Amino acid sequence: MLLAQLTDTHIVDPVADSELVVDNNQRLAMAVARLNRETVQPEVILATGDLTDNGTPAEMDLLAELLAPLQAPILALPGNHDRRETFRTAFDMPWATDDSHLSWVVDVGDLHIIGLDTLRPGSHGGLFDEERQRWLTEALDASGDRPTVIAMHHPPFLSGIHWMDTMRLHGLEVFGDIVGRRANVIRILCGHLHRPLTATVGGVTTTVGPSTIHHVELNLAPDAPIEVIQDPAGYQLHNIDEAAWVTHIRYIDTGHEPISPRWSR
Ligand SMILES: [Fe+2]
Ligand SMILES: [Fe+2]
Repeated sequence: MLLAQLTDTHIVDPVADSELVVDNNQRLAMAVARLNRETVQPEVILATGDLTDNGTPAEMDLLAELLAPLQAPILALPGNHDRRETFRTAFDMPWATDDSHLSWVVDVGDLHIIGLDTLRPGSHGGLFDEERQRWLTEALDASGDRPTVIAMHHPPFLSGIHWMDTMRLHGLEVFGDIVGRRANVIRILCGHLHRPLTATVGGVTTTVGPSTIHHVELNLAPDAPIEVIQDPAGYQLHNIDEAAWVTHIRYIDTGHEPISPRWSR
């Protein structure tokens, strides 16, 4: 099965009031167009938060317009730039019981997907508090032995990019313990860092997808300044079967088209 992951699209409205590194809205339009041209279409598209820049109704409307051409259903989670009030009405998801967090559980084929809302209103950092620890534990208990993936905006580890780590997931110290006890959790999928990377949390492979817009400069010095960079942007395609989980990155807006080299002919 093929699962696409879009993250950190940061849709803005109006564009004129924003300090943009790139045209965020145009980038999502390009990503959507490219996704629709994939020769094998994903069964589902996971959107791991910061889908808008401010979570306003106008931005949510624009986001819906930009996502509308997608052929596969969307599973959406909010990030620190989104707002629960507008997010909840914009996406038709089986939200967890109340407004305290917009988490959900969805089965796609044989894959059990747990979407964990890590949003902490008023903060750019995320929160894995007692309520969400309880909710996740129960969701994992209910998953039985089905192959399970956890999707969340804030990664449950420190990246080593200091200024991004100041916006970390609070409570990440217990996340690995909760997840690490479950042999059926096969992957954790995140956003937020605006830079694709791979980590291991509680023994589980954990990946962060590339943003469709600017990226965070890779600088691991403790006093690294806040810098962003126009590294190649795009989305991920997770190709999952019984033997392996393979993650590809599709870069968009590179200015290059595929060519058939002479040695291939
Ligand atoms: Fe973001
Ligand atoms: Fe974020």
